Amino acid sequence: MRFASLAVMSALMLSPLTFAQATNYADQPPILLGAAWYPEQWPESQWDADLSRMEAAHIHVARVGEFAWSTMEPTEGQYNFEWLDHAIADAAKHHIAIVLGTPTAAPPAWLTEKYPETLRISEDGVRDEHGNRQQFSFADKKYRELAHDIAERMAIRYGHNPDVVGWQLDNEYANPSFDPEAKAQFHAWLKQKYGTIANLNYHWATAYWSQTYNDFDQIPVREDNENPALLLDWKRFVTDTWVSYSENQISAIRPHADPRQFITTNTMGWFDGFDEYTLHKVLDIAAWDDYIDSDHYDYFANGAAHDLTRGYKRKNYWVMETEPAFVNWRSTNTPLLKGQVRDMAWQAIGHGADTVEYWQWRANRNGQEQYHGVLVGIDGKPAPVYAEVQQTGAEFNKTGAALEGTSPHAQVAIIQSYDSRWAINFQRHSAKFDPVTELLAFYTPLRDQSQSVDIVSPDAPLDGYKVVVAPALNVLPQAMADRLIAYVKQGGHLVLGPRSGMKDEYDALNPERQPGPLVNLLGGSVTQFYALDYEVAVSGDEGAGTADVWAETLEATNPETKVLMRYGASNGWLDGQPAVLERAVGKGSITYIGAWLDPELMSKFTASWLEQAGVHPIIPNTPEGVEVCERTGHGKTVLILINHNTTPEQVTLPSAMKDLLATDEGQVSTVELPKYGVAVLEKTD
Ligand code: GLA
Ligand code: GLA
Repeated sequence: MRFASLAVMSALMLSPLTFAQATNYADQPPILLGAAWYPEQWPESQWDADLSRMEAAHIHVARVGEFAWSTMEPTEGQYNFEWLDHAIADAAKHHIAIVLGTPTAAPPAWLTEKYPETLRISEDGVRDEHGNRQQFSFADKKYRELAHDIAERMAIRYGHNPDVVGWQLDNEYANPSFDPEAKAQFHAWLKQKYGTIANLNYHWATAYWSQTYNDFDQIPVREDNENPALLLDWKRFVTDTWVSYSENQISAIRPHADPRQFITTNTMGWFDGFDEYTLHKVLDIAAWDDYIDSDHYDYFANGAAHDLTRGYKRKNYWVMETEPAFVNWRSTNTPLLKGQVRDMAWQAIGHGADTVEYWQWRANRNGQEQYHGVLVGIDGKPAPVYAEVQQTGAEFNKTGAALEGTSPHAQVAIIQSYDSRWAINFQRHSAKFDPVTELLAFYTPLRDQSQSVDIVSPDAPLDGYKVVVAPALNVLPQAMADRLIAYVKQGGHLVLGPRSGMKDEYDALNPERQPGPLVNLLGGSVTQFYALDYEVAVSGDEGAGTADVWAETLEATNPETKVLMRYGASNGWLDGQPAVLERAVGKGSITYIGAWLDPELMSKFTASWLEQAGVHPIIPNTPEGVEVCERTGHGKTVLILINHNTTPEQVTLPSAMKDLLATDEGQVSTVELPKYGVAVLEKTD
């Protein structure tokens, strides 16, 4: 026993996550600045001027090729890679490495003309037409054959090219297809999963509305207005289809590529079209395209998306694209404010990115994105934002040696489950119950107070975390619950948000009611849920506040289970009923929050969970709006401080540190941060 508990204690001290450097190339700086470059759109005579300007901005990597199929293969079977040979060689002369994109997000006209069956079909049965991009079916055999061919030819040519550091498959996987082949594959997938139609009928409870199937082929293929069990399996099928879509190209590239060349794809933050954790099992590193969600840069929301991406492989990652001040696809494309482009770049590094690449290098002469932000204008001359990016690049170079081999390590984890997000989105019940907004309601105070949070899959190892929060773990199969039970019994603090533990893996209601397989551990359960469009008072040990959007009445059935909060007078159903339960289990605990709490109350709860678990901020008492990020590894500790405010701020450090961005790199114990100011500090003792 004694030895066992010691082992548990030492396990709790160690973070289970080894956030190694995403990529590392001997002849490149450890932290890379980059841009998306489209040489195929320009005469070769202009490339050198472009590349010189890139080099002057300290750009060390360019992503090339991801929409260039019609240039690589102008007609079927006639290949032209010479321009790409030259582009790679010319970039190398300017010390710029290349990430090659396979061009499959933009099939050429000859292809869709000759093989119209490769075009995707929308849910309402309309076949896409040529034009725009992403008009292919992800399930189509012919398309995969053609994609394999072009990827293999690229790999044979560039797989051992020393200037090519990695591969991006396709571009921003997004839409599934509802073509006959995809439907047949879905039916085969269901047959494989369930074995017999009777088994499927049982789990989907198809006696409801006479949905009983006699055969797998009868099952409709839809994304809406269907049995949620079907909808959930469709999402999983879509995930598996993107996995096999990726594997098709990986099988073309990997045999011809040096192991140092990574294979990834560029993802889209909170996009939930498929399960990123499953996809990333076949990818070498994670990468995402960091475009802010709204007109306003919310550093908590953006930081959470970084943490999400870091969680796909549980290691450092790349920002494959980000905005050079503005985009072209919002209704009004207001720019980031001057200084915020650098602020965002450093936030990326602070959260564990090892590369930040801008989209795009130079304005396109024509095409749908003429208004998008760029580093260099149509005239080839620097845009105003160029200077800010150049400064950032110089700073990446200066701090690279200190940051090399370091990564963020957190004591707090948030579980993010695609199954649960999908299941809630199929039946929100309360329109404002957006699972991502709800996750951010937990994330924001946790990040603010602990200054470091991991966002991980429900399958990630949890042993090293002092606090694990599952904001709305709606789909909770027994095996997942068993791991959570083990975590709590080992001394972990588990917090469940509303709607947790409601469904099994088939989206069927758990018979114990919420939180399903955790009812015994909690010693309590949910007696009823209510959608709200008004505020309800809640009060208890943590103070008083309000709940909105969602409220569940709870019942404690074990004498050890404490009621921490109750609802005030409201709609009659809620009046005086328990809203939050908590049970201590050995040195650990389980807390169930049945309502969507206001931010102040959430913040008070967060403080008490962190205190109970012994989680302390990296730098206490930092001014509001100043973000603290820490990267450690290889015996080094580097802090990145970012002042997101428009006013100057001062931060007192716990001990003197080396100011890596200062000209003299001297020791400082307080840091003055101007508006959008950044400091990079290294511990030297
Ligand atoms: C209608 C239908 C029922 C049920 C209820 C739900 O009345 O007839 O089958 O769907 O709506 O409110
Ligand atoms: C996405 C795409 C790019 C480009 C940018 C514009 O991220 O991957 O090709 O269209 O959007 O913001």
